[in-house]
Amino acid sequence: MSNIDNPTEQYFNHFHGHTSVITGGAGALGGQIANALAACGANIAILDRNRSESAESLLSQYPDRSMFIDTDVLNKDGLSRAEEAISNRWKSIDSLVNVAGGHHPHATATPSQSFFDLTEEGLRHVVDLNLFGTILPTQVFGRGMAERGDGAILNISSVSSFHSLTRVVAYSAAKAAVNNLTQWLAVHMAQVYSPRIRVNAIAPGFYLTDVNRTLLSDAQTGEPNERAQTIVSQTPMGRMGDPPEIVSTALWLLSPASSFVTGLIVPVDGGFTAFSGV
Ligand SMILES: NC(=O)c1ccc[n+]([C@@H]2O[C@H](COP(=O)([O-])OP(=O)(O)OC[C@H]3O[C@@H](n4cnc5c(N)ncnc54)[C@H](O)[C@@H]3O)[C@@H](O)[C@H]2O)c1
Repeated sequence: MSNIDNPTEQYFNHFHGHTSVITGGAGALGGQIANALAACGANIAILDRNRSESAESLLSQYPDRSMFIDTDVLNKDGLSRAEEAISNRWKSIDSLVNVAGGHHPHATATPSQSFFDLTEEGLRHVVDLNLFGTILPTQVFGRGMAERGDGAILNISSVSSFHSLTRVVAYSAAKAAVNNLTQWLAVHMAQVYSPRIRVNAIAPGFYLTDVNRTLLSDAQTGEPNERAQTIVSQTPMGRMGDPPEIVSTALWLLSPASSFVTGLIVPVDGGFTAFSGV
């Protein structure tokens, strides 16, 4: 049974004193989630390889409650050092948001680069980044949650995990594996460690951000290309998402407002997943 008497109040108060680690938190979607959590009172550790302008702005707005650690999510030693630094500054790590992910030009089939030409290096890069880049931080930051019996993990998957998208072969496979991992971990954490550790995922639809700009824009003009137009025509809401539209679902899945929700993969996609095309 939940002990929440007033879910709305709990929802807003939950993040005061809460510490959240956000991989890829310097990027478009991760930056939105980091800012929203900071605005709700959380301590924020951004783990990224790129100290972006949005990360700088969060760090200067919340100097007492934020830190940036230059980290590669595929380097377990670096993740462990980050864990030590965060734990030294703040008591415990309450949530982990695995946002870091992306593509590689040699893992994307195009009219001039067939599936058979894709390089092993490119394909492995994409599987490593999206799948192992979720597994390794979860091993490092989930351990404390398992020991404490409390915590929330949120993975960022993609709509390409449900129905594989043309071109992005390794990305679709890796994000499908992230969904499976999310459900596996949800069960494992609840059964072996504590039902108070929840693991969920968001499957974003299409947002024009750095991760897919080359896939969705004309290289010369920067205008939406044919693929982007097809995506919009297959999205019942008739547009791409704005990065801030990811935020409320993330806050819900990280807060006690979703205390009986685990192993869920929520599309935030303007109806793309629901649409059969007819
Ligand atoms: N933008 C979209 O439309 C969309 C759609 C579906 C899923 N997603 C997923 O959402 C997540 C965020 O995407 P975004 O659009 O914000 O992209 P983004 O490129 O703006 O952000 C990704 C961030 O991850 C960081 N990163 C990349 N490799 C890293 C590594 N090895 N170690 C640490 N950090 C690393 C990058 O520096 C960047 O800051 C990704 O997992 C992406 O696959 C995005």
